[in-house]
Amino acid sequence: MLYPEQVIEEVRLRNDIIEVVSGYVKLERKGRSYWGLCPFHSEKTPSFHVEPNKQFFYCFGCNKGGSVIQFIMNIENLEFVDALKLLADRAGIALPESEDPKERERARRRKKIIELNRLAARFFFSSLAGDNGLEARNYLYRRGLSDKTIRKFGLGYSPAGWDELTRMLLENKYPESLLLESGLSVRSKSGELIDRFRGRIMFPIFNIRGNIIGFGGRVLDGSMPKYMNSPDTPVYNKSRELYGLNYARTSSSKRLLIVEGYMDVISLHQAGIDFAVASLGTALTKMQGWILKKYSEEVIIAYDSDAAGRAATLRGLEILEEAGCNVRVLIMPEGKDPDEYVRNNGPEKFKNLIDRAISLLDYKIMVRRNMHNLDTIEDKLKLLNGIADILSEHDNPIERELYAKDYAQKYGISYESLQEEVNKRMSRKNRAGGYSASVRDRRGRTLAAQISEDSDIRYSELEHMLLVILCQENRFFNLISENYGLESYKDKKAGEIARKLYRKLEENNSCVLAELVSDMDPGSASYLVRLSQTKGEIKEPEKAIRQILNKLAILKLEDQQKQTIERIKNEQDGEVRQQLGLEFSIRAERIAELKKMI
Ligand code: UTP
Ligand code: MN
Repeated sequence: MLYPEQVIEEVRLRNDIIEVVSGYVKLERKGRSYWGLCPFHSEKTPSFHVEPNKQFFYCFGCNKGGSVIQFIMNIENLEFVDALKLLADRAGIALPESEDPKERERARRRKKIIELNRLAARFFFSSLAGDNGLEARNYLYRRGLSDKTIRKFGLGYSPAGWDELTRMLLENKYPESLLLESGLSVRSKSGELIDRFRGRIMFPIFNIRGNIIGFGGRVLDGSMPKYMNSPDTPVYNKSRELYGLNYARTSSSKRLLIVEGYMDVISLHQAGIDFAVASLGTALTKMQGWILKKYSEEVIIAYDSDAAGRAATLRGLEILEEAGCNVRVLIMPEGKDPDEYVRNNGPEKFKNLIDRAISLLDYKIMVRRNMHNLDTIEDKLKLLNGIADILSEHDNPIERELYAKDYAQKYGISYESLQEEVNKRMSRKNRAGGYSASVRDRRGRTLAAQISEDSDIRYSELEHMLLVILCQENRFFNLISENYGLESYKDKKAGEIARKLYRKLEENNSCVLAELVSDMDPGSASYLVRLSQTKGEIKEPEKAIRQILNKLAILKLEDQQKQTIERIKNEQDGEVRQQLGLEFSIRAERIAELKKMI
């Protein structure tokens, strides 16, 4: 931990969760808690609530929860340390300079890399303006970019020599290690540092705060690779960034348009479509999904219409949906990308495409539709089945019916048979959830694998539950620690949490759930808060605790029984087998007794 626990706790206590959350979500008081529309997924009726007395938030819709610190981590998309800093600032607490010398060094290097990037961007920019930049300049003009746009996006040119930037930086006394770490230089085979980017149009990548965190560089001709990009560095992580967001976030539009490339973003902005961002050729990540969700009310995805683009669109859609975005798909005419389209047809035509963007479901069906040409009955049947597959995965029953009607009419298939096919699939799915061993869960595990993991999951859940109750009812510390010492924990995470909680309770006799989760990752925090919610207020805590302890004891005994059975199977010696059999039946009795007590 980078900061002492007392500091984290002080930051938490000095930031009332109701006040902080109110800055982002309109909350309404109902009884003892406050309710509002969840900022982490889209919804029409509030399932997000904040408990002032317990100082935590929880959403029944998306299961996110935690203390004020996780709230800030989630909503501002910050790492723990940065969330802590934000809240410390807000409450006027001066955080001690991080005590960890490693962390201080890292912070210093991050600053230096950003400084280096700024110098590099200036260097590229002036070399674009200079004599050697003529060809690059003409290239950009040919692609329709104005000087104003070039300046706005800080475009530049990396000279074709081997080490012009590197030499300039070394002359300015920046150490080799930093040049390498920033990704601006690479070590050549002969051991010298040379420029990573040579003879390329340079696109600086800005973060939200307007710092330059990396670069993309495009060749001027058809050579490969077309683009070269900064590697991940201490300031740049490509799965978290969206190119153009520094501008798009200030757009008056509540939408974000997501495109593939640098040039798409730049062209669109120049054409006045100032809410475009790019995922830079990589598959969209969850993190990017959250960011898009945070900065927009609607996300429109405008990837190329080729096969790769379609596949990327489908994957992207899943991610965006999971992140809770309202998504629509813009259909690009065959073979065009947004840059070409807007340049050839103008902003108004492009805006028409935006207006005509279609829903997720429509898009899936359209992709499916294009797989068949509907001349034969067989094709129609295939399409019917395909549509039924897609519809049966759609959660909302009313929409399912409306869409089914619509599609049946549109594609000339019978509504009744489509409906029947959908129903068949729905009931098959429900049944399969219970019985079929070949059905896989979200993580792709078969039912058999799920069952064998079952006892691990039960340990994990019971142990976490025990800890949650202990947080609510500190006075039962002795009962719990005597019956279930730290060495008893089978689940690794629960064990770690127990270590922390037991220590706090020994030291200061108190610890509340919000405190316990404060320095956890948002996922673990949500899990604990969810456990504390699903069981509601525990009326008879002692009874609940004893029950859990009982269940855990039964699980352990059952594990031992399994081992004994294995040993009996493999044992040759009759006497030993008898002995094992005796052990087995004694334990079986004990288990039966314990089960009666539950
Ligand atoms: P595109 O090939 O669509 O690039 O790749 P573009 O931006 O439209 O470029 P132009 O119009 O040909 O100049 C989309 C994005 O994929 C990444 C880049 O981020 C690019 O903007 N990419 C592509 C790479 O990183 N490397 C490559 O070799 C190609
Ligand atoms: Mn392009």
